[in-house]
Amino acid sequence: MTEHKLPRIFLKGVHKAFGSKKVLQGLDLEVLPGESLVIIGGSGTGKSVMLKCILGLIQADKGTIRIDQQEVINASRANLDAIRHKISMLFQGSALFDSLPVWENISFVLLQGKKMARLQARTYAIEKLASVGLPAEVADLYPAELSGGMQRRVALARAIAPKPEILFFDEPTTGLDPIMGGVINDLIRASVDELGATAITITHDMASAKKIADRIAMIYQGKIVWQGPAKDIGKTDNPYVQQFIHGRNQGPIKVDVN
Ligand SMILES: Nc1ncnc2c1ncn2[C@@H]1O[C@H](COP(=O)(O)OP(=O)(O)O)[C@@H](O)[C@H]1O
Ligand SMILES: [Mg+2]
Repeated sequence: MTEHKLPRIFLKGVHKAFGSKKVLQGLDLEVLPGESLVIIGGSGTGKSVMLKCILGLIQADKGTIRIDQQEVINASRANLDAIRHKISMLFQGSALFDSLPVWENISFVLLQGKKMARLQARTYAIEKLASVGLPAEVADLYPAELSGGMQRRVALARAIAPKPEILFFDEPTTGLDPIMGGVINDLIRASVDELGATAITITHDMASAKKIADRIAMIYQGKIVWQGPAKDIGKTDNPYVQQFIHGRNQGPIKVDVN
């Protein structure tokens, strides 16, 4: 017998345009509790906009977006805060706070709500650094003093520090060399498993997708054009997926050069 679980994240018919530019055009998506979903798709297809709509950072024009049955679109400030409280995000390009040392970056959320005293928060940040393979000395450095790979590890430590129930990773390996990318992929998978979190990761890197995903969905022109178990991605004859994973010029995907 199959178990019916309610999705933690539910999107139905989501539309978002910026002026005349249609970005999300009827996006449907469900993520089950504890599931790690990877979204693949070319640049400019609406991947980051989708995550921002789920977080309520961008207001979707139409459709339904629910986190644990709670509607995000047009939610009150208080409801939106409650929804966001469950979610941590690793933004594209790390987005660390330049003016804060690494440990304060990692403990930012915990310090903000004064949930933790500074001394305790620093000790906790050092623990999180260790879990992403960085030594305690890094705690007092500033983001500009770190390599790209180290910045990404710190951004990951910051995302997992509040022990979120839901994690979003936007292009976590973009700009890293393949070896460092592999390290970050392993850390993401391990962190998601350890937290038992529900995760959405956006990537255009198939190595990342295969390592992180239970399920993969492909987005094109603001809609999901294929989804299935990660292990099936190599087997599908879906023309969008085929073109994307083989990097072909010919196929249904039209490259927007503007
Ligand atoms: N705040 C914004 N205002 C206007 N256009 C935007 C905004 N955010 C994103 N876009 C446009 O929406 C499209 C999708 O963007 P995005 O979701 O960032 O793509 P990606 O799939 O690469 O993450 C792009 O054409 C981008 O220029
Ligand atoms: Mg993006």
